[in-house]
Amino acid sequence: MDNLKIPTELMAPAFNPATFGVRGAAHEIFTRLRRDYPLSIAEVPGYDPHWIVTKYHDIREITRQDELFHGGDRSKTLISQAGEQLVKQFTGGQSNIFRSLVQLDPPEHGPYRAVLSGAFMPNAIAELEPKVREIAQAHVRHMLELGPECDFASQVAFLYPLQVILDLIGVPKTDHEKMLRLTQWLFTYADPDLGRPGSDLANPQEITNTWNIVFNEFKDYYDPIIKDRRACPRSDIASMIANGKVNGCPMEERAMISYYVIASTAGHDTTSATTATAMWILAEQPDLLKRLKNDPKLIPGFVEESIRWASPVQQFVRSATQDYALRGRTIRKGDLLYLSYISGNRDEEVFEDSFVFKPDRSPNRHIGFGYGGHICLGQHLARLEMRLFWQELLPRLRSVEMAGDGKMAQSEFVCGPKKVPIRFEVER
Ligand code: HEM
Repeated sequence: MDNLKIPTELMAPAFNPATFGVRGAAHEIFTRLRRDYPLSIAEVPGYDPHWIVTKYHDIREITRQDELFHGGDRSKTLISQAGEQLVKQFTGGQSNIFRSLVQLDPPEHGPYRAVLSGAFMPNAIAELEPKVREIAQAHVRHMLELGPECDFASQVAFLYPLQVILDLIGVPKTDHEKMLRLTQWLFTYADPDLGRPGSDLANPQEITNTWNIVFNEFKDYYDPIIKDRRACPRSDIASMIANGKVNGCPMEERAMISYYVIASTAGHDTTSATTATAMWILAEQPDLLKRLKNDPKLIPGFVEESIRWASPVQQFVRSATQDYALRGRTIRKGDLLYLSYISGNRDEEVFEDSFVFKPDRSPNRHIGFGYGGHICLGQHLARLEMRLFWQELLPRLRSVEMAGDGKMAQSEFVCGPKKVPIRFEVER
C-alpha cells in the first residue's frame, strides 16, 4: 500500500510540544498529512508506532465505537516509551497516571459518567445562566478597567472559566490560583513559562514525573474535601463526586481523584484557550467585530466556530481491541491510533474554506468536543460561558487590535494562546 509510513522528518515535529508553540506550524504538518498520508503509520524514535488519523470521518468512525477502540488500555495521550514505562512503575502496572472518564472504557465508563452527567445536561446548565452571567459581567468589568491595553490571555481568559467551574465544584476563591497552576503543569508541562518550575525537559520521562506530581497534589488537596463532603454534603460538584456511587459501590480511589482532576483542569483550560483564540481573531479582523456588534444573533455561531478553529484538545490516543479495516488499511488488534482533532476540524472535504473563520458556518459539526461515548461532558457549560462572555463584552467594545505579538503555549496535548496582548476602545 502506498504511503503506509510517514517520513520521520515530517512527523517528528508533530510529536514535539515546541511545534505547537508556533501558531499554525502543526496545521502545516497535518494539512500535508491529510493530503498525502491520511491514515498512515508514524514511527518516531522513542515512541511506539502510531496510526495517525487525520480525517474527520475516520476520527468519528473510531470514536463512535468505544467498545472497539479503547482509551484506557494504553496511555490516553501521546507519550514516549520511557514515559510509559515510568507510568507503570508509579501506578503498580496501570497504563495511565490518571483514571478519569477519558481513560475508562465500557462497561466501566458509563456508570462513572452517570455520576455527573445529570449536572451537565442542557436543562441543568440552562439553570446556571444567571449565576454564570454574573461571573461573566465581573470579568468583563475587570477587563474594561485594565484598558486600554491588557494581556487578554493571562488577565481575562485564564481566569473567567476557572472561576465558573471552581465555583461549581466548590473550591474556595483562595485556591483558584493553585488550581490554575496545577492545570498548566499538567497540560503545558513542556512550556517554559507555564510548565512546572525545575522540570527537566531533556528527560523523555518528564511528562510522567510531572503528571505524577500533579496527581499527588490534587489528591492531597481533595482528600480533606472528600471527607468534608461525605460528612456534610452540599449542593456542589465536590459533593456529587465524593458521594457518587458506581454500581452501588464507592468509586475506586484513583478514578475518584481523577474525576476531580478532569473537572478542575479540562473544565476551564479548554474554554480559556478557545476564548483567547477568539479574541486573537477578533483583534486581527476588525470586520468580524463589526458584524458581531451589528448582529448579536451571530454570537452562538461565533462561539461554535471558535471551538472548531481553536480545537484546544490537539489529540487523544485509542488502541484497537480487534482487527479493523479503515480507509483500505488493516488496523491490527493492539495498534495505537493518534486522533488529531485539530486536523479533523480543518478537513477540507468536510469544512468548506476550512482555513477561513466563519461565524455563520452552517452546518458546523466540528469535533472540537470529540464524538461518541466520550464526547465532552462539559460542552453545554463551555458554550454557555462563551456565549455569555461575548454577549456581555461585545456591546461595550468599540474596537480591538493586537498590541504586540501573541504567543501560543508549547503543548502537543491541550494547547492555546498564552499571550494575547490587545489594545481596545470602549463604547461611551
Ligand atoms: C471549549 C471547551 C472544551 C473543549 C474544546 C473540550 C474538549 C473535549 C474533548 C475533545 C473531549 C473528548 C475526549 C475523548 O475523545 O476521549 C472532552 C471530554 C471531556 N470534557 Fe471537555 N472540553 C471543553 C470544556 C469542558 C468543560 C467546561 C468541562 C467541565 C467539566 C469538560 C469536561 C470534560 C469531561 C469530564 C470529559 C470526559 C468525558 C468522557 O470521557 O466521558 N470539558 N472534552
